Amino acid sequence: MSTSSRSGPWHEVRRSHLHGNGVFAKRFIPKGTYILEYEGKHLTPDEADAQEPTDPNDPFHTFFFAISNGMIIDGGQDGNESRFINHCCEPNCEGHENEAGTRVFIVALRDIEAGEELLYDYALTIDDKLTKTLRAQYACLCGVPSCRGTMLALPKKTKKQKKKAKLKKWMKKTLRKELRKMLEKERYPAE
Ligand SMILES: C[S@@+](CC[C@H](N)C(=O)[O-])C[C@H]1O[C@@H](n2cnc3c(N)ncnc32)[C@H](O)[C@@H]1O
Ligand SMILES: [Zn+2]
Repeated sequence: MSTSSRSGPWHEVRRSHLHGNGVFAKRFIPKGTYILEYEGKHLTPDEADAQEPTDPNDPFHTFFFAISNGMIIDGGQDGNESRFINHCCEPNCEGHENEAGTRVFIVALRDIEAGEELLYDYALTIDDKLTKTLRAQYACLCGVPSCRGTMLALPKKTKKQKKKAKLKKWMKKTLRKELRKMLEKERYPAE
């Protein structure tokens, strides 16, 4: 599959305000363009677990891309510039696999203007229980209105769970309001 045209690569790598290096559109990229392949060494999940952190100061930094044949592409080994693509919860790109599920290409989800950062949703999956700590270790700084706060994939909530979460939020808000009223009464009792 060809991911460049006669005019050269679609992208360039430079510093990103999101994190470290990022990948940016070098020129206008039409929706549906296969921009570049996510290259790297293919590891089994056990091999991936055994890898040392890429950055000891940021142990949750990852260059992994999981594919449907169960393997993990490690962009940190034999990878190309695609390893610098940052995550966003409202992405302009996504990974498309070939039919065999052995290769993945970064594809434009919409028209992308020159200079825009290329971003895909990592939707990282981890075997451990999804705790607050784990979410924070993979905190997302994308800042879009729908940011889910983490680069991890979150399980989809059922209608019942959504209702429960809404009720919990309402109860917390009401309790806080009542508590504030009580404290104010205590501080400024009526004469
Ligand atoms: C594939 S690398 C992306 C390139 C990275 N910026 C670099 O310079 O190495 C993935 C790592 O970048 C960081 N990262 C990417 N997107 C992020 C985001 N939206 N919020 C916070 N950190 C992000 C995380 O440390 C993540 O593990
Ligand atoms: Zn986000």
